[in-house]
Amino acid sequence: MQRPSEMNTHVFHRSLLTTPPVAVRGQGLWLEDAAGQRYIDASGGAAVSCLGHGHPDVLAAMHRQIDQLAYAHTSFFTTEVAEQLADQLVRTAPAGMSHAYFVSGGSEAVEAALKMARQYYLEIGQPERSHFIARRQSYHGNTLGALAVGGNEWRRRQFAPLLIDVTHVSPCYPYRDLQPGETPEAYGQRLARELDEAIQRVGPAKVLAFIAETVGGATAGVLVPVPGYLKAVREVCDRHGVLLILDEVMCGMGRTGTLHACEQDGVVPDLMTIAKGLGGGYQPIGAVLAQQKIVDAMSSGSGFFQHGHTYLGHAVACAAALAVQQVIERDGLLQK
Ligand SMILES: Cc1ncc(COP(=O)(O)O)c(C=O)c1O
Repeated sequence: MQRPSEMNTHVFHRSLLTTPPVAVRGQGLWLEDAAGQRYIDASGGAAVSCLGHGHPDVLAAMHRQIDQLAYAHTSFFTTEVAEQLADQLVRTAPAGMSHAYFVSGGSEAVEAALKMARQYYLEIGQPERSHFIARRQSYHGNTLGALAVGGNEWRRRQFAPLLIDVTHVSPCYPYRDLQPGETPEAYGQRLARELDEAIQRVGPAKVLAFIAETVGGATAGVLVPVPGYLKAVREVCDRHGVLLILDEVMCGMGRTGTLHACEQDGVVPDLMTIAKGLGGGYQPIGAVLAQQKIVDAMSSGSGFFQHGHTYLGHAVACAAALAVQQVIERDGLLQK
C-alpha cells in the first residue's frame, strides 16, 4: 500500500506541505488509518463526534432515509425527518424558540443568523439597524460574514478588506482580564457596561445584534462566562432593542452537560446557532433556532426569509441529526 507521504494528491488539503494519513475506519472512540495505525479520537475531531464513530442507531437511521429519499429541494418540499428534527429541537430549546432553520454547518448557521437579524429589523420598520457588535478572541466561522463578526486577528487579517465593519468588545476572559481585587461578578458587570458604551458609541438605533459564543471555544480555549455576565448582557441588549445571538456551534448540543450552554445561566437568546454535536459528524448539518417574534415578523411581513442554499434541510443530514439527538435523550447522556 502506498504511504500517505508518497501519494500524489489532487485534494486541496488544509496544508499544502503534507498529506495527512488516510482514515479508513472509525468505531467508538477509535479511528484507523490505511497503514493500520489506530488513534484515540479524544476530541471527536473539532468537538463534533459526540457519540463516537459508527453508532449503530445513527447508521440504521441514515440507511433507512437513504433507501427512502436522500434529497428533495426545500423550495418545493419538506420531509418527515426535517419536521421531526425541528419538533425535537424546539421541544428541547430555551423558552420561545419556535423554529429551526437547517443548514450544512456552523458557518452557514452564523451567516443565516446574521441575515435573519437584519431582515427582522427591515420587517419591523427599523432599516437603519445595520451594525453588529461581537467580541475579540471569538470564532464564528470562516465565511465572510462569520469571519467579520469573529474576533480572531490571525484568521481575519488577510481578508480584512473584504469584511463588513463590526465593533468588537472584550471577551469574558477572567484569567487575563480580571483586575486585582475585582470579583467575577463585578467583572461581568464591567463587561456589560463596556457593551453598553459600545452600543451608545455606534448609536443604539443602528445596532442590529450582539453575537457571542456562550462558552468561548475554537480560538480562546474554554471561556466560561462569569456569574451574571450573560444576564447582564441580555439586559443591555433588551434596553437598546438589540438582538442577542448566541453561537453554540461548539459549546451547544450537550457539550457542557446541558443541551444548550445558555440554560446554565437562565439566559434565552433571540437567535441561537448550533452544529457540530447536532449531527455528531455523521452528516454535515447546522441550524439556527429562532424566537417566535423573528418568525412572526417575517411571516406577517414579506412572508419569506430571503436566503437559502441548495442543501438546506437535507433529508439524510436531518435523519442523522434526529438519530443523534434521540440517542442522547434515550440514553440519558447529558445526565451521565
Ligand atoms: C463557535 C463556532 N461557531 C462557528 C463555527 C464554524 O463552524 P463550521 O466549521 O461548521 O463552519 C465554529 C467552528 O469551530 C465554532 O466553534
